[in-house]
Amino acid sequence: LSAPVIAIDGPSGSGKGTLCQKLAQHLGWHLLDSGALYRLVGMAADKHGCAFDDEAAIAKLAANLDVEFVAGEPGEPTRVLLEGEDVSGDLRTETTGMLASKVAVLPAVRSALLGRQRDFAQAPGLVADGRDMGTVVFTSAPVKIFLTASAEERADRRYLQLKSKGDDVNLAALLGEIRARDKRDSERELAPLKPAEDAVQLDSSGLGIDEVFDRVLAEVNARL
Ligand code: C5P
Repeated sequence: LSAPVIAIDGPSGSGKGTLCQKLAQHLGWHLLDSGALYRLVGMAADKHGCAFDDEAAIAKLAANLDVEFVAGEPGEPTRVLLEGEDVSGDLRTETTGMLASKVAVLPAVRSALLGRQRDFAQAPGLVADGRDMGTVVFTSAPVKIFLTASAEERADRRYLQLKSKGDDVNLAALLGEIRARDKRDSERELAPLKPAEDAVQLDSSGLGIDEVFDRVLAEVNARL
């Protein structure tokens, strides 16, 4: 590794995203949102009408992913352009998450994204958010965290998050979708969602983001 990496893995809604943003900001390190890459590949596959078992075609899209991140005005979020089209509004939806988990089972897609992910490990350091950061992409990361929370709590959090963006969401449907996505992510053959042997496991159920942040920062300080 050309720079130290903090690998943070866990299921959707565990609080990883917020935690990683806070950590990267606090340390002044780079941030890799690997889920966004899988989401973009899922969207590209959908847009080009690829069959989800057409591994070669989707891997080709992944290898040539035409994506641009455009920083917004101060206080405005970064816009994401896929093949020149602004997809920021759709990137975080549960529909896109499901597309992502469908392309993420394909080995050729995962290997097409490997180099792109590793390139993010630049000085002074990287906070990497995903499912297989500690087990596959950055196996020698000095800090590995596996963050979980109960499916019910994750559905509640996601519900509030999507609701606050004005999305029309249904809690029971969301819980079902989260369970389906967990199942696909945990049971796939390649790089399934599971803690690395040397990961610190943390259950964030009932904890606020500040408590989670403090615990992880203590772990980081102890190891770096
Ligand atoms: O983290 P996020 O919900 O954005 O990830 C979307 C999907 O992308 C996950 O459900 C998973 O199927 C896939 N993914 C993955 N490996 C990663 C990150 C995401 O397989 N490192």
